[in-house]
Formats: sequence, structure tokens, C-alpha cells
Amino acid sequence: MEKTFLMIKPEMVKAKRQGEIIDFILRNRFNILRMKQFSFDLERARDFYGIHAEKPFFGDLIEYITSGEVIGLELEKDGAVGAVRELVGATDPAEARPGTIRYMYGASLQTNAVHASDSPESAEKELAIVFFED
Ligand code: CMP
Repeated sequence: MEKTFLMIKPEMVKAKRQGEIIDFILRNRFNILRMKQFSFDLERARDFYGIHAEKPFFGDLIEYITSGEVIGLELEKDGAVGAVRELVGATDPAEARPGTIRYMYGASLQTNAVHASDSPESAEKELAIVFFED
């Protein structure tokens, strides 16, 4: 079965609403293989979001993602990469379809509740960065 990576972002953990997202994922029949609450250090955050290094928002993105604890989940399901992106919705919550996680919980482009891998290759890279000790 395909595996992918989902991350619950700092504002959701601070608001103690991570349980709602985990419940939503389970009700949509994903298996959770690994789950880890942690804080990014700068080096790991820059590596994780390396694809955005040249973007004007990169500095803000790194400051934000290192501002508090996040929860990384390794998920499994047939077609997991596409399936989780369907559930997550558009990057900008203002453009996310009703019923998606970002529609329900996202507040802004930066505080958009979750991150999901966009391909099997990204999932492999992101899982290796987050579950480095395991
Ligand atoms: P995510 O899926 O975590 O991947 C990169 C993140 O950068 C994205 O979600 C947004 O939260 C953020 N992002 C993308 N575009 C912009 C932008 N134009 N301004 C600020 N943040 C952005």
C-alpha cells in the first residue's frame, strides 16, 4: 500500500485541535504507521522546505514552522498521496473546497492547518527528515 506524509502545523497544535484532524484522517480510512510530535530546528526546517528556498516567503515560512510543535504522521492507504491531498484541499484556505481540512481549519496561506506531500518522492524525503531517529 502507498505511504505518504502529513504534518499538523503549529497553530493547530497550540489550539489543541490536532485530535480533530487525526480523527478525520482515521475516519477516511488511512492507517497511521508512525506519529511524532516535535519541534523543527532551523537546519531541518530549511531542508524540509528546501524546494521553496528561493521564494520570497521562505524566511517567514521557516520562522513560522519553527515557532512551535508540529505533528508528523506517516499514513498508508491505496493511492495515499493523492487521497490525502484531496482531503487537505487547496494551499490557500480561501480557495479550498468545503469539507477539506484547509476549508475547515485553515485561516491563511501561512496558517493553513496542515502540510501534505505532493508526490511519492516528496513523501519519502519528508518522512526521512521527520522520522530521522526511528
Ligand atoms: P505547505 O503545503 O506546507 O507548503 C509550503 C507552504 O508555504 C504552504 O503550505 C503555505 O503555508 C506556504 N506558502 C505558500 N505560498 C505562500 C505565499 N505566497 N505566501 C506565504 N506562504 C506561502
